[in-house]
Amino acid sequence: MSNDILKEFEDVIQSGSRDEFLLRQIDPARLPSHIAVIMDGNGRWAARRNQPRVAGHRAGAEAVRATVDTMARLRIPYLTLYAFSTENWKRPRLEVEALMGLLREFLRKEVRNLKKNDIRFQTIGREEGLENAVRREIDRARRETCENTGTVLTVALNYSGRSEITEACRGLLAELLAAGRAPSEITEFDIERHLFTAGLPDPDLLIRTSGEMRVSNFLLWQIAYSEIYLTDTLWPDFRRADMFEAIIEFQKRERRYGDVKTADKNSLIVANMK
Ligand code: FPP
Repeated sequence: MSNDILKEFEDVIQSGSRDEFLLRQIDPARLPSHIAVIMDGNGRWAARRNQPRVAGHRAGAEAVRATVDTMARLRIPYLTLYAFSTENWKRPRLEVEALMGLLREFLRKEVRNLKKNDIRFQTIGREEGLENAVRREIDRARRETCENTGTVLTVALNYSGRSEITEACRGLLAELLAAGRAPSEITEFDIERHLFTAGLPDPDLLIRTSGEMRVSNFLLWQIAYSEIYLTDTLWPDFRRADMFEAIIEFQKRERRYGDVKTADKNSLIVANMK
């Protein structure tokens, strides 16, 4: 374990703690470049405490703060959080309003920290569907952090993977028609250029909290080869140690992208030679 990473956490992790034990198991040379998170379980967290759902979302916002801090210290280049899906508009009006309020509050209060930690903030999703007060805060956070070169924090708001792919098709088709190009010329790269995530690498690691086993319309195109990590921890309880555990598990996986292990290829060559 490089002392550099331990150093990044020295003001928050105590010697001999579980956090330190876990951090020492992480190989800094094989960190995921892009971690995406489906933050789930806020409602259940609140229900277990006989509190309103909104209390779960407020506690969830704390977990967001903690996660962003951990990503910045680990120097993870990209973190993408699923905060509000296009389907979430179906929730009671008061819950939607509370979520939007929390988001505004988060952005207003956190911009200073984002700047201090060199984090660049951006969103994906249909921004024009959000209320003006939220859009103003998003705009300000984006402007004030646009020069930062550390972790890129992308928050998915009014987002769904299917609507993203639909919009990409519309944009690409318009471009093809204008340029007089044939459909047979379309490449995967053309589609990627038209996604909200254009310019972002695909997630290496997708985390979903609260024990659910769905991708819920999140980054459908981009997670084709992502490693998926599920944890029973409810999002408001998700802290540094949970992230370390996810990364340790990620580093145990062998990513083959449809290929076979090198050892298996060699065994095939040996078999052919017999
Ligand atoms: C899913 O839990 C969570 C959400 C729909 C909202 C996520 C929002 C936050 C974490 C807070 C604000 C976000 C930012 C970026 C500051 P759920 O309500 O579906 O939980 P349940 O499945 O237990 O009911």
